[in-house]
Amino acid sequence: MLDISEIRAQFPVLDQQVYGKPLVYFDNAATTQKPLCVIERERDYYLHENCNIHRGVHYLSQKATEAYEHARQTVADFVHAKEAREIIFTRGTTESLNLLATSFEHLFLSTFHSPLSTDSQLSTLNSQLKVLVTAMEHHSNLVPWQQMVQRHNGQLLVVPMDDKGVLDLERYEELLKEGPKVVSIAHISNVLGTINPVKEMVAMAHRYGIPVVVDGAQSIAHHPIDVQDLDCDFFVFSGHKMYAPMGIGGLYGKAEWLEKLPPYQFGGEMVDTVSFEKTTFNVLPYKFEAGTPNVGAALGQETAVQFLQSLDRKEVETHENQLLQSAIQQLSAIEGIRFIGEAENRSGLVSFIIDGIHPYDLGTLIDKMGVAVRTGHHCAEPVMTRFGIPGTVRASFAMYNTLEEVDVFVKAVLRAATMLR
Ligand SMILES: Cc1ncc(COP(=O)(O)O)c(C=O)c1O
Repeated sequence: MLDISEIRAQFPVLDQQVYGKPLVYFDNAATTQKPLCVIERERDYYLHENCNIHRGVHYLSQKATEAYEHARQTVADFVHAKEAREIIFTRGTTESLNLLATSFEHLFLSTFHSPLSTDSQLSTLNSQLKVLVTAMEHHSNLVPWQQMVQRHNGQLLVVPMDDKGVLDLERYEELLKEGPKVVSIAHISNVLGTINPVKEMVAMAHRYGIPVVVDGAQSIAHHPIDVQDLDCDFFVFSGHKMYAPMGIGGLYGKAEWLEKLPPYQFGGEMVDTVSFEKTTFNVLPYKFEAGTPNVGAALGQETAVQFLQSLDRKEVETHENQLLQSAIQQLSAIEGIRFIGEAENRSGLVSFIIDGIHPYDLGTLIDKMGVAVRTGHHCAEPVMTRFGIPGTVRASFAMYNTLEEVDVFVKAVLRAATMLR
């Protein structure tokens, strides 16, 4: 059994009062808190190891390089990548997705266009530039692809969802037949909590020869990830949502795809040889890591992974699911409540609105009672449009939360609802 009080002891930030009330932190989908071991790892790096990597012959540089590459191997093992070079360190999910959208754009253009193409041939080719996303994407997995296709008069295809927040797989199959060049889908919706059947969706896309990107921002901290089992071509994530520091995250890509894609940013480290006439690029993974990386945060991310590996992940899942079920069951009794996202297969967050009450007002009031939740559109405006609402209140859980905190949260919501009605 998970020892929650032992886990909480590793997160000092939780042990504080806000407005004279014990903090209840239910904003974990935005960012998780960091355990002491992660904070200490980063501090230790700056105290004893700080150095730029890959470039120095001296002791400190070699030590930092070794530690950084060790972190890459640890992350690769954590997601079951075949090889460490399939892991690119980035600033997080958003940067990973921008990297992919930009590199795919250049790949398509270089494959599509020959110098002999006429203007009309070009415009026909460009209109074939389609990318498929779903109706529940975070802006980070929507806007980079949208901007990319719009630059070429291409098209963003969108898989719709039903009123419970479940994707329409029949429509997905039809859209695959329209020939998108890439499919990019959330593993878990940050608004609805829906766990999408990504393994099945990957297999379907592969039947049409289409590569699949999985946005794992909301899944990696809560469920074991096996990229080889999912068979996805790319998997992107943010460290700060998985108990690691801010400013670090990653991109897993199958080596054959990463080899094929052109680099995203240019500069030091990602090059092999440079002259004024020509530049050749470094091998994987360095080809995609231009400039000095956030070494301290990468080491913190490794420690966060080791922290997760030290726990029974099944027990973490069960605990977070208990928190979710308790919240849903207690909130259901509130008059006028409407849940946004009621898929059967869902992860540890609950989004809702209450008739006649603006989510922002509710969130502001319960904050004064010590409860931190997120209100608004959660960077997923099309989801709000789909459900015809301005925003939701979202409570999202992590391993250190307790059933008692769920009770405090529900009481706070009830009290605020009574005050606001
Ligand atoms: C599903 C999903 N994708 C992408 C992101 C963007 O993550 P980041 O801001 O860490 O880059 C988030 C953040 O909330 C998310 O929930």
